[in-house]
Parts: sequence; C-alpha cells; structure tokens
Amino acid sequence: MAKKNVLVVGSGGREHAIIHALSRSASVGKIYAAPGNGGTRLIAENVSIPVQPPFTDIIAFAKEKRIALTFVGPEDPLVNGIVDAFAAAGLKVFGPSARAAQVEGSKIFTKRLLQKYNIPTAQYQEFTDYAGAHTFVMANQPPFVFKADGLAAGKGVIIAATRDEGVDALKQYFQEKRFGAAGDKIIIEEFMSGEEASLLAFTDGKDVRMLAPAQDHKRIFDNDQGPNTGGMGAYAPVPSRLLDETLLANVRVNIIEATIEALRREGIVYKGVLYAGLMIQDRTARVVEFNCRLGDPETEAVLPLLGSDLYELADAVCENRLSGITLGVKNMSAATVVLASGGYPGDYPKGIPIAGDVARLDEKIAVYHCGTRFENGGYVTNGGRVFSVTATGSTLSESLTNAYAFIKNGISFVGMQYRTDIGKKGL
Ligand code: AMP
Ligand code: GLY
Repeated sequence: MAKKNVLVVGSGGREHAIIHALSRSASVGKIYAAPGNGGTRLIAENVSIPVQPPFTDIIAFAKEKRIALTFVGPEDPLVNGIVDAFAAAGLKVFGPSARAAQVEGSKIFTKRLLQKYNIPTAQYQEFTDYAGAHTFVMANQPPFVFKADGLAAGKGVIIAATRDEGVDALKQYFQEKRFGAAGDKIIIEEFMSGEEASLLAFTDGKDVRMLAPAQDHKRIFDNDQGPNTGGMGAYAPVPSRLLDETLLANVRVNIIEATIEALRREGIVYKGVLYAGLMIQDRTARVVEFNCRLGDPETEAVLPLLGSDLYELADAVCENRLSGITLGVKNMSAATVVLASGGYPGDYPKGIPIAGDVARLDEKIAVYHCGTRFENGGYVTNGGRVFSVTATGSTLSESLTNAYAFIKNGISFVGMQYRTDIGKKGL
C-alpha cells in the first residue's frame, strides 16, 4: 500500500514525540509539522501556516499535500473547532470536536456533566461575580480550590490555604482579570488530598484503549517546591501501590467509560484522546480535570512505551473501528526529564546556544525538543521548557539512571535547570 502523508499540529515536546512515533509506522510516508520546532525538522518538514479559525489555510495545505490524517496536539485548536472544520472539508483528523473538547475548554461544563452522571470528583459551586464568591469564601472553611472556567494555559487554578488568600484569589479573577474572559466564570472546589496520576485513553466514542498510567511533576524545584510549571518531568507506568489492576479497571469503567457514555447521552461523540487527571486516596480515584488531548510531558514518557503503531491506532479512532485494535504496552519503564531555561517559569532568555547531542532519538534515549530553534547551523533555546529527555529501561530505576546519565554529559546550555528527583515517588 502507498505510504500516507501525515500532518501534525503543534510545536512542543508532545508533538515531537507524536511525530517520532508516527515516523516508526510502516504506513507513514512524509510527515509535516505545523509549526513544529527545532527537533521536528529532523524527522518531519516544518511548515509555518496559521492554525486559527476558520482554519482555511491549514485545510488548503492538507488538501494540496494529500494529507491522509491530521493529528492535533494542543487544546487550543481543538476547543476552537479544528476537527469540525477539517471534517466539514472532508479531511480525516484525529481529535475531539469542539463540543467534545469542552471537557477541557469549560470546567463548568465538565463539573456539571460529572455531577449529573455521578462520576467521582470534588464537590463544587459556580460563581459569576465577586460578591457571590466572596460570600461563599466567608461562610466556608479553607482550603479552597479556585478554577477559571475557560482555557488559561494550565494556569487558571489557585489553591488558597486561608480565607485571606481566597479573597486575594477572587480579586485576581474578577477585579484584576488576570485570566481574561476565561476567569469571568469560576468554580470553587473542595480540596482533595491524595496523590495525582494521569491516565490517557484513546477512544472512538465507543471503545477505549488506555496507555500506561503516568505521573507529571508540576513544580519547578525538587521535592515539589516552588511555582507550578507546564511540567518538569514524567514517568510511566506508575507503581501498583498507587494504581493496581483493580483500581485501573475501576477507573476505566467508572471514570473513562462513564464519561464517554455520559457525553454520548448528551449527544456528544468523544473521539481522540481523553486525558483524566486523577486524585488517588485510600485506593479510590476521583477526577481532578480532563484534557481533550495527549498531556505534555506525559506523552514523551508514554508513547515510547506504546507497542502498537500510532498511525493505525489514530486511523482506527477516526474510522470508528477501535474495537478491532489491540493496544500493545511494552513491559518497560520510561522516564522523562525536562531541561528548562534559567528563570523559567518566570521570565527567561531565548536564543541561548545549545551544545550536545540534540538529535539523539533511539530506543534507549530520545531527546524531544520542546522549545528550540535551528539558527545559523546550530540550535538555540526558544522557550521555557527546552527539551524533554526520555530514557527507557526495564525498571523505573534503570530508566531514571539512563536519563540522568545522558543529561549529565549529553546536553548543555547556559542557565539550564532540571529537577533531579523525577520519578522518585515511583521507586
Ligand atoms: P487543573 O488545571 O484542574 O489540573 O489543576 C491544576 C492542579 O491543581 C492539579 O494538577 C492539582 O495539583 C491541583 N488541583 C486541582 N484541583 C484540585 C482539587 N480539587 N484538590 C486538590 N488539588 C487540586
Ligand atoms: N501534563 C499536564 C497537561 O498536559 O496539561
């Protein structure tokens, strides 16, 4: 059979890992990345075409290049209807429709859905103004969890330990408009204690195939200190002390399948990847959030463990035939350590020259580029998170040893920082 041309939308480590997995498929010929990054240019052709509603330019490109399948990485285009637009143009595209992507695009939509269908999550209340939310904070006990309803690039959540911090948070949403229109409506949620895990599942709206459960590391410094980031590392699978077969089966039925069925009853067919952020305590799991796509940096850890052809998997989702697909998950471990720019997640410089083995991409070590640019024959930094270095091994301890051994001599740039305790919780 003729090889297929594929288009991947996005520019981060996640997209580099998606392209790496697609490039190993026997069905895939040429891969385009829009816009891609310094790493994706090594295994795909980067194209700078706007990816914005109404998606006219990117649709014209997909037609011109005879793209057989478009794989959408980030949430923004999904929430803004890229899948609907491609489908209307007769193009095959992997990801949820705009209505389905509301699971990430609106916290209120999701909380209402979960509550209506008795899917386990934190208690919550909705607020549309400062006065109402203030009354709630004064009448209830901290801690409080505040969330902007809309997309806020992962930064819309504030956890307040005291009423004063709660009032300060409300000012940020309603008076300072720190989250723009995304924070015009908020929810206040019950604080859940426990340990977090990320479960990513492929679905065609009917059947479900789960990837290895992973753990993200959101804080910038070791021992989960310092401000939140986009993610400083991940590993998979998580130990069975956290998620064993019984609990995984329970999450599959009572959270993943239940949510897909709940959406279906609301007239929404969810296709693509459903990412469940879970809080686990006393051997029960509750939903912290959903994302409508693969997670970053979880993808860089879970895709190298995928024993199946990613193109075939995505194609089966698009064509509603996931029931015929067996998902292989390698009996190995993967650890991903993010190398970040000095200053991140605050202000950081760009354009810093990078030295080292930036093109390494094999079974043992994969250097996924998150924020790099190729310039005058060399690589420079171009973002807060610069690389996701993934290493595999037969155990978590082996994959961590491999990752840190590579980083030590493999890559360097001025100001480079990374956590030295990725995966420690899983050992
Ligand atoms: P979210 O954007 O909803 O994933 O929230 C960001 C982070 O805030 C999560 O990964 C959790 O660490 C934390 N978080 C969110 N909701 C809660 C909650 N109800 N209780 C405790 N922590 C939470
Ligand atoms: N790792 C969290 C996210 O992708 O949103």
